[in-house]
Amino acid sequence: MIVGSSRAGHYKLLVVDDEPHVLETIIDVLEDRDEDGEFQFFRATSGEEALSILDERDGDIDLVLTDQRMPGMSGAQLLEKIHEKYPLIGSIVISGFAEFEDMRSAFKSGIFDYIKKPYDEDHLVGVVRSSLEKTELRRQNANLVEELKDANQLLEQRVNERTLELKHSLERLRSMQQQLIQAEKMSSLGQLVAGIAHEINNPATSVYAGAEALESNVDELVSYLERYENLLKAIQDGDDGKVKEIGDDLTNAQEDIDYLLEEGLPWSIRSMKEGAVRIKDIVRNLKTFARVDEAEVKHADINDGIRTTEKLIHHELKNRITVHEEFGDLPPLECYPGQLNQVFMNILVNAAQAIEGEGTIWIKTYTEGNNIVVKIRDTGGGIPQKVLKDIFNPFFTTKPVGQGTGLGLSISYGIIKKHGGEIKVDSEPGVGTEFTIILPLDGVQKARERAKHEGDYARSQYEFFDASRIEELEKELAEIDANPGEPAKSVPEPHEDSH
Ligand SMILES: Nc1ncnc2c1ncn2[C@@H]1O[C@H](COP(=O)(O)OP(=O)(O)OP(=O)(O)O)[C@@H](O)[C@H]1O
Ligand SMILES: [Mg+2]
Repeated sequence: MIVGSSRAGHYKLLVVDDEPHVLETIIDVLEDRDEDGEFQFFRATSGEEALSILDERDGDIDLVLTDQRMPGMSGAQLLEKIHEKYPLIGSIVISGFAEFEDMRSAFKSGIFDYIKKPYDEDHLVGVVRSSLEKTELRRQNANLVEELKDANQLLEQRVNERTLELKHSLERLRSMQQQLIQAEKMSSLGQLVAGIAHEINNPATSVYAGAEALESNVDELVSYLERYENLLKAIQDGDDGKVKEIGDDLTNAQEDIDYLLEEGLPWSIRSMKEGAVRIKDIVRNLKTFARVDEAEVKHADINDGIRTTEKLIHHELKNRITVHEEFGDLPPLECYPGQLNQVFMNILVNAAQAIEGEGTIWIKTYTEGNNIVVKIRDTGGGIPQKVLKDIFNPFFTTKPVGQGTGLGLSISYGIIKKHGGEIKVDSEPGVGTEFTIILPLDGVQKARERAKHEGDYARSQYEFFDASRIEELEKELAEIDANPGEPAKSVPEPHEDSH
């Protein structure tokens, strides 16, 4: 507030009039009523002079008070120029009646205040005071706007930083998922490789045993052939003594020779052949199981997939677990066959591992309406009610370190979801567990359409892992994109160990 202020020379007034005595009169009037000496005056006798004073002072003037009618630049023209260059300076024009009519619109727009000639002294001082007050408010306002702009800029910068952080978190989560998928692939691959190594070892042993037996059989055979050669030579030489000796020897060996031809040799050959056939079989199954076409959708027979998988995990089952199959007539299913086989393998291996000692696994497939249903039941230890809800979570495992990663079922869950299907579990501790997989015949197509529709097909590939967190993050990012300038609601702490 200006009234009562004691700041000497605080307000700088530039008074402009081409007639010096009029100029001085105005200043006298104002000075007379400026008890606190707040006014400091500057004088100009033309618009041009006024402008140069302003420029010299770099706009450091609070109010310009000017006569309208002056040679050269008029008062209104001067104030317009000042307004353009120094918009925060207050301005008053003093004009006669005729000019006042001309400038009515300028007054209305509020560019400057005005005083009509002849003026009343009190009126002059009143207008000057109120104009100074307005100027001060305008300046304060401008400062606030600047502060607000700065604050806004800071906020925007923070929002951008947060957005970037969120984006990085999302990236990290994504790359972690990729790593997990890779880890699980490696782990089930490792499991598979160990199994296959075991499986191939048996037939390879039988091929080897056959080859060894064949070698000694052939040695034996060669020695008999040599004796027959010697017999032939003795006959040709007419050496009766030698003929008899070799003849007796061969007669005594007849039983061995018969055994060699009828049993030994055929056994060696059979053993080698069987081993080779079994190895060929394993390799064929492996090829079917692995199906390098994982990325492609194929029409496949689910029963075939289960059979192949079963053969591959034979080493987990044999001599210990009886498998009962009850396969229904199934139409071919549009699916990712390699991935479904991975689901069957996870569930079958889990079942086998849940059975201590001897037990039974039932596999049943059938169609129900538009769905293919696969049920896998075991006589294992069962799953306690309180952990039943956790088994599809990544990393949930009750197996000792090094034996289970706890990813098998979460991966399986993701794969079945990708097929637009469902996977359910039913378990009774001490009795056993049953997994039910429901696969709609048009599931893959529907799941793909849905994912595409939602614009997150890529994400559906990793659906198994903490999808909710990623969804949350994406929502927050979308919100920020939609409302730039609003602070983010929450920012997750980036995981230090997630690189
Ligand atoms: N048939 C089952 N019988 C009893 N418990 C089961 C059965 N299947 C799964 N579980 C329980 O669910 C947990 C999670 O299974 P999941 O296949 O996801 O991981 P895992 O078998 O422990 O490890 P991984 O599959 O990576 O080797 C198991 O540790 C086990 O406690
Ligand atoms: Mg498992």
